[in-house]
Amino acid sequence: MCWWLDAYAPSQTVKLRDQFKIKTYIETGTFRGIGIKFYSYRFKEVLGCEINNEYFKIASERIKNLNNVRIYKQSSPDFLRFFLEEYRNKKRNDMILLYLDAHFYDILLFLMYLHLV
Ligand SMILES: C[S@@+](CC[C@H](N)C(=O)[O-])C[C@H]1O[C@@H](n2cnc3c(N)ncnc32)[C@H](O)[C@@H]1O
Repeated sequence: MCWWLDAYAPSQTVKLRDQFKIKTYIETGTFRGIGIKFYSYRFKEVLGCEINNEYFKIASERIKNLNNVRIYKQSSPDFLRFFLEEYRNKKRNDMILLYLDAHFYDILLFLMYLHLV
């Protein structure tokens, strides 16, 4: 059963993956983990974060057997800061596909993203 995953986003995401040869997909606000599971079969590496305890548990359960997926129980700005630090430390310069979907609770998040990215 697949509910919630946007119908248009997957085809555009895969198009971008192919056009820019992107291997890493990041989704902030993983909700129940449906999207990250879907993308785990389409990207080499998948990362995400979820702030809500209950959703984080459900998503963790859903991805527990997928060894190319990591999710963090973190707010998206903290997670993105953490990821950027790791990215720089590893001297990476590959392109990342960022799906900024963490919202519901904080209308200022978008401004924070602009500052970070
Ligand atoms: C629109 S839903 C995400 C749907 C999911 N990306 C998908 O495609 O199935 C938004 C999610 O973001 C989470 N969220 C809200 N604010 C957040 C924040 N500051 N950091 C991380 N997650 C957050 C919510 O708990 C919720 O699960």
